[in-house]
Amino acid sequence: MSKIAVLTSGGDSPGMNAAVMSVARSAALLDMPLIGIKRGYNGLIGKFPNPKDNYVEMSMDQLLDIADLPGTYLRTARCPEFADKEYQQKAAQFLRELGVKGLVVIGGDGSLQGAQALCQQGIPCVGIPATIDNDLGYTEMTLGYDTAVNVCVDSIRAIRATSRSHDRPHVVEVMGRNCGDIALTAALSTGAEIVVVPEVQNWEIKDISRRLNNLIARGNTRATVVVAEGAWRTMAPFDHHSFLVKRGKVNVSFPEQRIDAINFARVLQQMAIDGVEVRATVVGYTQRGVQPTARDGAFAFEASAMAVNLLRHHISGQVVGVRSGRIFHMPMETALKMKPRFNRRMFNMVNAL
Ligand code: ADP
Ligand code: F6P
Repeated sequence: MSKIAVLTSGGDSPGMNAAVMSVARSAALLDMPLIGIKRGYNGLIGKFPNPKDNYVEMSMDQLLDIADLPGTYLRTARCPEFADKEYQQKAAQFLRELGVKGLVVIGGDGSLQGAQALCQQGIPCVGIPATIDNDLGYTEMTLGYDTAVNVCVDSIRAIRATSRSHDRPHVVEVMGRNCGDIALTAALSTGAEIVVVPEVQNWEIKDISRRLNNLIARGNTRATVVVAEGAWRTMAPFDHHSFLVKRGKVNVSFPEQRIDAINFARVLQQMAIDGVEVRATVVGYTQRGVQPTARDGAFAFEASAMAVNLLRHHISGQVVGVRSGRIFHMPMETALKMKPRFNRRMFNMVNAL
């Protein structure tokens, strides 16, 4: 049977190890030798002098215990050179020399673009969408998204308890790059009162402040404002630094800083009714570094089995995903052109108060 390879690329996402384990199980069942490429596309371009840092022969026994570990056993990386054709050709040559007849790429949008480039170099590839961001339009879920949302829900609930105790509104910043899905679903699940996402252009800090003050005036002194990290880029211009300097809240000589959750909370506090304290928490990398939920674990398992099966039947240039709740596959080229759809109805529901 043909030898295949697997790699993880881009930001690590919960469930990547379960996916690698499932690739190994399927390969073992079909007697297909398996190579693990290390550190994303860096391993394929032979970035490191010691070959052990670039790839490893893998057997199922070695991987028995990795399925429920957070992070990625194969390591991951960003490899900007890989957008360059010269490196794509180098990677294809490297795989041919290893006798690899097919590659499973586990990663987000950029990583799957890399897989498409390798297909164009004659390497049969199948992609598994793995990113906490959920920013791929062709699939209802990406691997790791469910876990990341659950981490945010746990954080918001814990923050809510202390916010309630002190009568303090709280800003919670979550990840998602240019996608507001983590923020939106976490806000909906926790009954947060305000959610701010990058899909809304030119949103105004004054508008958020007005809505927060209305909530406070109605007795909600522990309101939660969930902000997706990408939303800082789509905020209407507001000179928060001069505003805070004028109020004596930051030092004039303090270097100009971009708006972030802490400064945002400071501005909201200054615009709020006297005496109200507004605090901020950035959930950060805890969204990535935990064990996958059952939903992500099961998706990893099924998607990877499908990916190996496709390669075995010489069907390549495909991505696996979820449609109407079921695993499916479709051509990579079409899939990667599909834009993620923002759920405006859900957004309005959260922000209805
Ligand atoms: P993600 O896969 O999570 O979206 P990135 O966008 O950072 O993460 O992409 C991960 C890696 O995929 C990049 O560092 C690069 O190696 C590769 N990649 C991204 N875009 C392309 C592209 N257009 N062509 C080839 N490779 C790409
Ligand atoms: O793409 C996943 C992600 O966690 C994004 O949500 C976030 O913007 C980015 O990666 C952070 O990347 P890094 O690990 O390079 O800081």
